[in-house]
This record gives sequence, structure tokens and C-alpha cells, in this order.
Amino acid sequence: MSATISTLLLDWYDGHARALPWRAVPGGALPDPYRVWLSEVMLQQTTVAAVKPYFAKFIERWPTVEALAAAPEEEVMAAWAGLGYYSRARNLVKCAAKVTEMGGFPDDEVALRRLPGLGDYTAAAVAAIAFGQRAVVVDANVERVAARLFAVEEPLPGARKTIREHADAITPEARPGDFAQAMMDLGATLCTARDAKCLLCPLRESCAGYARGNPQLLPVKTKKKPK
Ligand code: ADE
Repeated sequence: MSATISTLLLDWYDGHARALPWRAVPGGALPDPYRVWLSEVMLQQTTVAAVKPYFAKFIERWPTVEALAAAPEEEVMAAWAGLGYYSRARNLVKCAAKVTEMGGFPDDEVALRRLPGLGDYTAAAVAAIAFGQRAVVVDANVERVAARLFAVEEPLPGARKTIREHADAITPEARPGDFAQAMMDLGATLCTARDAKCLLCPLRESCAGYARGNPQLLPVKTKKKPK
């Protein structure tokens, strides 16, 4: 049998993962849930480059979720200044208090989803990355990679359900967090919105978009109606 998509991608990730401060070594011990949660909340509407200095500042000042829970809200809001979407910072403090009261982060997606500020994406990301639970993690990068891999021609946002089903079908039981982050890294470095560097891609032979010759045109976006 030929190697599966997840095996090809994980092998690539082992050599090409971006070294990011909230990550563990690929294939190694799982990273601290506090660091994973904090980074995922910061990354919700903000780029990796912009998040890095804020992540470093927060970890230095509040190294644990208990420390963050004990911080005055004004101090956290001041440290967040510049990252935008301030409801994220308010929820951060609320969530830290709740997690401290619970004695730690819950380890499954459903319980994580109930915490303040955690939507479907963040709950799935924390469950997979910090706890090794099989969860389907779909952000904009993953959406683009999956749309190309399976040549999804239906326009977004309508195609979301189909794309999610494809992402689900290729998510492995083993190393789901590395798999999710490998999809993100592929989308951020090779399979980018402007470009598709297929000759460097570990999934080229499995890619329906590549086979059809038009991966960079996917996913299709519905044009906004003029006002
Ligand atoms: N964007 C959101 N979460 C990310 C992660 N864990 N690694 C890289 N980019 C991301």
C-alpha cells in the first residue's frame, strides 16, 4: 500500500516544522496546555510573527495559568494592547480563572469548548496539540490545503462542510496535534494563498488539485455582492 497522506505529511513535518515557542519537538512529549491555549487564542486573528513577542511577554510575566488567573484584569489588558480583538483578552482572564478552579485544563474537546473564549477551532486545536486527542482542526491554512488536496471546486463558505469532511478523513489517531500543525505549516510555507510550490510538496502525488493543474485557484471564494 502506498503511504497515507498523514504519514507523508508527518514525515515532512519531522524535517520541516517551524520552530515556534509554543511547540514541542515534533514526535516528542506533548507541549504544556497553558502555552498551547495561550498561543491559539493569540493566533485566532493575528499572524505568527505578530504573536511571538506577545507570547514571550505573557509567558515571562505569567508562566502558569494560575499566575494569569491571579493577575489584575487591567494588567492583562495593558499587556494585550496592540494585539486587537480585546474580547479575547477579557475571555483569557475569565478562562484562566475557570481552569484554575477546575484544577487544570480539561483534556477533551467537548469540555474545552465550554471554556470562555474557546470556539470550535480552539477547542479542537488544544485537544489535539496539548492532549493528543484526535480532533479535526480546521483553520484558514488547513482549509486551503484540504480544498486543493481534494480539488474542492464548490465556493467558500458553502464548501466548509465538505472540506471539513475531507480533513476528518485524513486526520490520524496517532500524532493528531503534529498532523494539524503540519497542515498549518504546509499552508503557511508551500501551499500559500498566492502560490502553490508543488515541486517541494510532500503531498504532490496525492493531490487532486495538482493532478488537475490548477491548485493555486482553490479554494474558490464567492464574490461579495456589491453594496
Ligand atoms: N496558527 C494557529 N495555530 C497555529 C499553530 N499551532 N502553529 C502554527 N500556526 C498556527
